[in-house]
Amino acid sequence: MQSPKPHRRVRIAVFPVAGLGTRFLPATKTVPKEMLPIVDKPLIQYAVDEAVEAGCDTLVFITNRYKHAVADYFDKAYELEQKLEKAGKAEQLELIRNVLPPGVRAVFVTQAEALGLGHAVLCAKPVVGDQPFAVLLPDDLIWTRQSVAGGAGALKQMADHAERTGGSVIAVQDVPPEQTKSYGIVATEGFDGQAGRITRIVEKPKPEDAPSNLAVVGRYILNPAIFDLLETTQQGAGGEIQLTDAIAQLLPLEQVDAFRFHGTRFDCGTHLGLIEATVRYALDHELLSDAARKLMQNALDEMGVVET
Ligand code: G1P
Repeated sequence: MQSPKPHRRVRIAVFPVAGLGTRFLPATKTVPKEMLPIVDKPLIQYAVDEAVEAGCDTLVFITNRYKHAVADYFDKAYELEQKLEKAGKAEQLELIRNVLPPGVRAVFVTQAEALGLGHAVLCAKPVVGDQPFAVLLPDDLIWTRQSVAGGAGALKQMADHAERTGGSVIAVQDVPPEQTKSYGIVATEGFDGQAGRITRIVEKPKPEDAPSNLAVVGRYILNPAIFDLLETTQQGAGGEIQLTDAIAQLLPLEQVDAFRFHGTRFDCGTHLGLIEATVRYALDHELLSDAARKLMQNALDEMGVVET
């Protein structure tokens, strides 16, 4: 007997990057928050690498008219390439050429008004059409340990799951009850420790109204049915058109699974999250690890910070 055919593999990734990033002012006055670096790469590059690793070859950036830096970053830098080539700097040349690996294309769509995450995702509809697609929020940086899950990034783990089920998949992690008001929160059935079907999803509930402490992290694999629902989704929490509210409407129509990925997520939309990610990636860096460890220790010693 033939084994059942796998479902369609996700090939398109959508990156909503039109937010103002006001938390990081004054830096974000001219530098979009997605361009803030963690060690040597901007946040957006980490998200792009994760999508490409998962098998995506079309990357859709939802930007606004002030975010030229994101488009410039993914554009070809002819002059710089020529200079590096002349100077024989092959390694650096490789780095800038590979911001988008061969065979991967970038598409830019403008979100004219900041109406919310759901609206940003809807802006991708003309490019995505009738296929499953991923959404990655670059603020959520997910670090994966080489030795766990074969070193696969969070989106790849989710794409493999989606290929098996044919349904939509949403990344989740456990959060302390007092933090439910910062996240989409899900209730599930048949949760086996890693995945389970979502029965309810609520955007930013108070702890007393939260259906669980499983919080949505910024990685989604969605079936295109979400677009029709987004077309009619009204303003929700914070007066914005919420992706969560459209997903809530998808639940009775299709299988939508919560997926607890292997990896550590850093909320780089906050100061501490950005610092924590920098520390982690520095300590994990092939060339910088030892020196980073020493300088952190020195800083603690010099500033008189003692362990209690
Ligand atoms: C968005 C989503 C929320 C999700 C969060 C993850 O919220 O609306 O459901 O839990 O991303 O980072 P935001 O943080 O953009 O307010």
